[in-house]
Amino acid sequence: MRMYDIIAKKRDGGNLSKEEIEFFTKAYINEEIPDYQVAALLVAIYFNGMSVEETVNLTMCMAKSGDTVDLSSIDGIKVDKHSTGGVGDKTTLIISPIVAALGVKVAKMSGRGLGHTGGTIDKLESIPGFRTSIDRNEFFSIVKEAGLSIISQTGNLVPSDKKLYALRDVTATVASIPLIASSIMSKKIAAGSDCILLDVKVGSGAFMKNIDEGIKLASLMVDIGESVGKRTIALITDMDRPLGKAIGNSLEVIEACNTLKGEGPEDLTNMCIELAANMLYLAKFGNLEECRIAAHRVLNDGSAFEKFKQMVKLQGGDVTVIEDNKKFDVAKVSHEVLSKDDGIINSMNTEICGIASMILGAGRETKESSIDYSAGIVLNKNVGDKVKKGEKIATFYSSSIEKCLEAEKLLNMNIHIETEAPKPVPAILARVTRDGVEKF
Ligand code: URA
Repeated sequence: MRMYDIIAKKRDGGNLSKEEIEFFTKAYINEEIPDYQVAALLVAIYFNGMSVEETVNLTMCMAKSGDTVDLSSIDGIKVDKHSTGGVGDKTTLIISPIVAALGVKVAKMSGRGLGHTGGTIDKLESIPGFRTSIDRNEFFSIVKEAGLSIISQTGNLVPSDKKLYALRDVTATVASIPLIASSIMSKKIAAGSDCILLDVKVGSGAFMKNIDEGIKLASLMVDIGESVGKRTIALITDMDRPLGKAIGNSLEVIEACNTLKGEGPEDLTNMCIELAANMLYLAKFGNLEECRIAAHRVLNDGSAFEKFKQMVKLQGGDVTVIEDNKKFDVAKVSHEVLSKDDGIINSMNTEICGIASMILGAGRETKESSIDYSAGIVLNKNVGDKVKKGEKIATFYSSSIEKCLEAEKLLNMNIHIETEAPKPVPAILARVTRDGVEKF
């Protein structure tokens, strides 16, 4: 087999066989073919796409390219969740304890934030003492005892994705639906859970800018999951407004704790109930309505919050900080951003909110940057809210006033206050299952 022929076949619109996909993924990992040939193939895939069968084959070759996690020693159904990346998205911190409180196990590997999107691992590491680098045996024993554990990726999981993603990043081929789907699903499959809930974000703060693109990506990922025996559902959710009020690591943990105590913002609470209900449904807990009722119950009776505290304790975190959020370190500087006009917030570019939070110190510009856990934004107003001139829109937290002023300038340029209210958009735009697409 020759890489040249594989490139030519895809360039001419052909479908690659399983053997051809196996050949190039293995040869690339073993450094037997050069970057420029794989780059040429990626460009051909970008323009000509891949069939579902090709994408499933690529996903499985990538999933098997390194270590895989075998969760079979943990009793019960294990459910994973993946978000395609958002701003202020702290849902994993809330829904994992909800489903664990109802007996469904979550053995989850999460990532760090980069650029305008946050990462669950950074949020958890803002809790003093919380350990995210945990070996397999301890990870399994925490899941067995508490029903949930969230750790950073360990070992050599899907090395093929690391190499391919780095090449896609520099060859302008990231935005290819089959390449995104295989990248995400290979990591979920290697992580070993039985069922997968996908939260595909669309809008200004997300990878997918519109609902049709989101549905295409979601449908392909559901097809991949189901075809390898993993029950998979995707919710298409709106990222044209930040979720909840807090953006930034410890600020988001505080908001997650409030939500777990039944005192969270309504949009975040509702989103978490829907996501948790779908995870429970995947684990065959009941029909969707029964799952929603159960999720509400464990939020209201405190058992989801107890689960979260149990995980924090087992992973070395200071539970007193979770019980009394005033014990979190507070940023040196706080700065109020005031409205420049009377009116209604018509739009607020979510990606810019993420970038503003990064400027304040909450995110990383490069993988090597360090982050300030106490930095970030607490929004007083969101899209659709009325404001008066001089009224507080947000409070910024940072280590310096200069950072606050730079972030304020950026945010002000991207908040549009008008006389008209924006068209209401549902927080959940569609649900994709193996049976089809339901739009809301
Ligand atoms: N997230 C991933 O893990 N991979 C992609 O290709 C895009 C988003």
